[in-house]
Amino acid sequence: SPMREFLQGLPKCEHHIHLEGSLEPELIFELAARHGITLPDDPVYTSVETLKKRYEHFSNLDDFLHFYFEGMAVLREEQDFADLAWAYFQKAHADGVHHAEVFFDPQVHESRGVAYNTIVDGFTKGCKRAESELGLSTKLILCFVRHLPVASAQELYDEMVAHKSFENGTVHGLGWSSSEVGPPKDMFRDIYASAAKKNIPLTAHAGEEGDPTYISTALELGARRIDHGIRLIEDEELMQRVAREGILLTVCPLSNVRLRCVKSVKEVPIRKFLEAGVKFSINSDDPAYFGGYILDNYYAVQEAHNLNVLEWKIIAENSVQESWIEDSRKAEIL
Ligand code: HPA
Ligand code: ZN
Repeated sequence: SPMREFLQGLPKCEHHIHLEGSLEPELIFELAARHGITLPDDPVYTSVETLKKRYEHFSNLDDFLHFYFEGMAVLREEQDFADLAWAYFQKAHADGVHHAEVFFDPQVHESRGVAYNTIVDGFTKGCKRAESELGLSTKLILCFVRHLPVASAQELYDEMVAHKSFENGTVHGLGWSSSEVGPPKDMFRDIYASAAKKNIPLTAHAGEEGDPTYISTALELGARRIDHGIRLIEDEELMQRVAREGILLTVCPLSNVRLRCVKSVKEVPIRKFLEAGVKFSINSDDPAYFGGYILDNYYAVQEAHNLNVLEWKIIAENSVQESWIEDSRKAEIL
């Protein structure tokens, strides 16, 4: 359709995509076969089709996370991580993405015995290939997970510091994700304080299932971007602060529907954010699980909110301007 072509042609950046969340069922079965891994003893793993069907009715974030963590257990060798990243970047490129900042969850792989270098070198290999063959720019954002003990995150942080991953440019920023409601809101306080001192860019998943105090806590700990953040609309004062300070929300409409944070894309507060001057980007989160990549998310927003060309230009331009890249790269994309 002409509208989809227009949205495809807009120069876009993606800021909220978990590489492990781009692991398609086909690749889960392929990697399991390659490594002789027995998939979980659950009838949903009968076939690609039964698995895809199960992904259509998650009841909440934790129900999804169960399958997300099971699926990623087929990633074992450096090349698996490289192949996964490469598959995602090809799709992003086809959707008109020029720059992608991508999350990954090392703690979960390390808990299965995969070494830090296997993960980071593999993903880096995929990033380099996207840069040279597709002209994309990429940044890796290492995510701490909230369902494991803080000590596990601290060990990973120490490992990252020991490898000088930030200084050598392989890991560009830090985030946190996984179960929102339950674990202490400020569990990564010490890690974020240390990272802030090193000027490492920080983001955090907040205000997806959790109330606005999860967002204010993330900001207090030094996050300069908020992943999801849709529940910000429940606190008018905080929303005005986020607008005033130019903090970017990385909104993921299809994810919000699949995880039942909203009933439909119409309920994602796109208009409220536009009217309040809150900057946001539109992203895919876990495209293999939520039924669409970035362009499907843009298109779903258009179908639900019927934005005009000027509004779309503002959204796409904010996605470029708020990326963690040099001004010279922003100018190239725009
Ligand atoms: N929320 C929290 N953690 C996640 C998500 C999400 O949407 N996707 C992958 N890890
Ligand atoms: Zn996410």
